[in-house]
Amino acid sequence: MSNFNQESVLSVHHWTDTLFSFTTTRDPSFRFRNGEFTMIGLKVGEKPLLRAYSVASANYEDRLEFFSIKVPDGPLTSRLQHLKEGDEIIVGRKATGTLVIDNLKNGRNLYLIGTGTGLAPFLSVIKDPETYDRFEKVVLLHGCRHVAELAYGEMINDRLPKDDLIGELVRNQLIYYPTVTRDPFRNRGRITDLMTSGKLFSDTDLAPLEAAHDRVMICGSPALLQDTRTLLLDKGFTEGNHGEPGEFVVEKAFVER
Ligand code: A2P
Repeated sequence: MSNFNQESVLSVHHWTDTLFSFTTTRDPSFRFRNGEFTMIGLKVGEKPLLRAYSVASANYEDRLEFFSIKVPDGPLTSRLQHLKEGDEIIVGRKATGTLVIDNLKNGRNLYLIGTGTGLAPFLSVIKDPETYDRFEKVVLLHGCRHVAELAYGEMINDRLPKDDLIGELVRNQLIYYPTVTRDPFRNRGRITDLMTSGKLFSDTDLAPLEAAHDRVMICGSPALLQDTRTLLLDKGFTEGNHGEPGEFVVEKAFVER
């Protein structure tokens, strides 16, 4: 049996010149945990051209969603960005990844730190009722250079709170905190700096980070991962992975396309 399913593109949304997302059909046999990634791609000639993508839809939804950058000379995204409704795409039959709540010890508040398309796995995690069962508050931090790059803000602010399944959980427990570094905006600065200065905690009315109570998931550039990891290790947090839950987990956002 092939390791891939063939899916059809159902919709495409271009957020900016460099960011787009799309939805596809979902083979009923494709199972994943919220926060995981799979390989997706296109057939170019005889060969499939594949890259890892976080699944941005929740595992109970009947379509799959992916959030991507557009790299002008990127082997895959230079082609993927021209997808239109009805096109075929290849999607792996297996998913994996460390950004799953099972890799975290129990705790009070869950911080989801994503920069750029590193938001994608958390779109899935914030739609999971179990996330709200495990944690009192779920703080979704999205850091971008520009306001226009704060994709999904409207979905998170306006649509999710009205959702039949998780609307009430979202209204009571989700805190969405978008921030930008290179435009005027209500929240400004790097996520790491907002944590170090304490501004994030005064803005959200939450207690400063503590390894005893708080849990963190991080997805972004290697530099973001490194700096956030250092910040957390200094505070006594331990890193978790499969088989060994910890106080934080990290995954590189997949950007070299
Ligand atoms: P900045 O504009 O100060 O570089 P990128 O597109 O480079 O991945 O950046 C996405 C967002 O993440 C930007 O707001 C950027 O801020 C921020 N960022 C980049 N590197 C780091 C880092 N090491 N720690 C915290 N935030 C970072």
